[in-house]
Amino acid sequence: MMKKMLFTDSFLKTGAPAGGDAVRAASHPVCKEVREEQMNICVIGTGYVGLVTGAVFADLGNDVICVDKDESKIEMLKQSEMPIYEPGLEEMVVRNVEDSRLAFSTDIGEGVRKSEVVFIAVGTPPAEDGYADLSAVTDVAKIIARNLDRYKVIVNKSTVPVGTGDLVREVIDRNKIRDVEFDVVSNPEFLREGSAITDTLYPDRIVIGAPNGNVAMRIVELYAPLERPMLITDVHSAEMIKYASNAFLATKISFINAVANICERAGADIVQVIKGMGFDSRIGPQFLNAGLGYGGSCFGKDASCLIHTADRLGYDFKLLRTVVDINSEQPLRFVDKIRNALGDLEGKTIGILGLAFKPNTDDMRDAKSIDVIGALIADGAAVKAYDPIAIDNAKKIFPQIQYSSNAYDTAEDSDALVIITEWNEFKLLNLERLKERMKRPIIFDGRNMYDPQRMKRLGFEYHCIGRCDNAKGSNGINGH
Ligand SMILES: NC(=O)c1ccc[n+]([C@@H]2O[C@H](COP(=O)([O-])OP(=O)(O)OC[C@H]3O[C@@H](n4cnc5c(N)ncnc54)[C@H](O)[C@@H]3O)[C@@H](O)[C@H]2O)c1
Repeated sequence: MMKKMLFTDSFLKTGAPAGGDAVRAASHPVCKEVREEQMNICVIGTGYVGLVTGAVFADLGNDVICVDKDESKIEMLKQSEMPIYEPGLEEMVVRNVEDSRLAFSTDIGEGVRKSEVVFIAVGTPPAEDGYADLSAVTDVAKIIARNLDRYKVIVNKSTVPVGTGDLVREVIDRNKIRDVEFDVVSNPEFLREGSAITDTLYPDRIVIGAPNGNVAMRIVELYAPLERPMLITDVHSAEMIKYASNAFLATKISFINAVANICERAGADIVQVIKGMGFDSRIGPQFLNAGLGYGGSCFGKDASCLIHTADRLGYDFKLLRTVVDINSEQPLRFVDKIRNALGDLEGKTIGILGLAFKPNTDDMRDAKSIDVIGALIADGAAVKAYDPIAIDNAKKIFPQIQYSSNAYDTAEDSDALVIITEWNEFKLLNLERLKERMKRPIIFDGRNMYDPQRMKRLGFEYHCIGRCDNAKGSNGINGH
């Protein structure tokens, strides 16, 4: 197993080793060799991760070909139309296509043959048993094998359970037709949808799990222009870092939601509790917001996969199981609040503000709106919904509900408004105007966006999470 080395930001900027294990990237022979030429890169899978990665590597001066089996996606990209919404992405793609550094194709084999580094960025959805479905990864590994015409580094950027690097190596070895060497690296991705370009340009860290130092250096050189902290480690540890990070963040969210549920019973205010906790530098305020729970394409599936990985390795990860349970219950508790306040929902009109799993994305995967709207419809409510950009995707899931073009139209004749996604524009709503349009001025705020005292003054019945459903509580008074 290779020695672990740590590259710090200051080290990459100054060239001075910052710790005992730091090594200067540029002094490494492989890096010198690579630095003098642009790298030819193939990125397989043009989703959130692949497309953003490809665009950023092209922007750093490399020749990048992004390939995907989805013909319609590639056709859109060839016409400079983005298949996903991501701030700054379109400009970056167009600029690099115009400068001939970025191209799109459905010919995966050709992309592999043209490149010295091949990134795998295909989806790894949950399998039926909760483990990861690795079929897309093994499918592309077979294509890579058949097109391996000279030494290449295969970099796994998809989130994959520990041991998948070994599996990719085996599949390529078994299927390659020429006697050519290759290496498999794990380079997990930590970008967040909605800020994917910024996160890729300024990542907190870059993790490179490689079988040896020479291979690691090729990837270090690729990322060196970003001047961000890099951790070079072995493949298994890199794979585990990704799962452990997402599972830890999911744990923070479920933990604070559980505390919020106790606050409601105890008459405490979760917003004050979070402030008090967040000042502790060992805890920090990030990812401590009470709400409807985590959603999106990653946390749920990654937590589930880590539980199953642990099971396969003979360890019962009880803590993470409970994190998942708390997260599944949270939107249902919220629907109970709506039922308790409104009574029978049959025939009532409920307006939904926010559909995407979080702001600044149109991604509906595991969005909490799905649980809440699903339960409201099952109870016989008529649902109207608005989201700044996720309506087209939401229509694929709920074709039967009514969609509005803004929050005020959603409020029109509604028996209640329900906030699911904390879009910035909802913070800036004219609440008096909103109230005038509603049949009854009742708001259920699943993201604690407003001050309960202000809502009361404005004449709303305001229900939120962990702070205001109890009169005896500390009601958001600052410094209480
Ligand atoms: N979305 C995120 O925020 C995020 C963040 C970090 C890591 N990840 C991980 O990155 C990976 C990709 O996620 P994503 O959100 O970009 O997924 P995505 O679904 O948006 O994109 C995956 C792409 O892979 C393509 N694909 C699937 N099978 C293929 C095949 N056999 N050949 C060629 N192309 C194929 C699909 O057509 C699709 O365009 C996943 O493992 C995910 O867990 C995602």
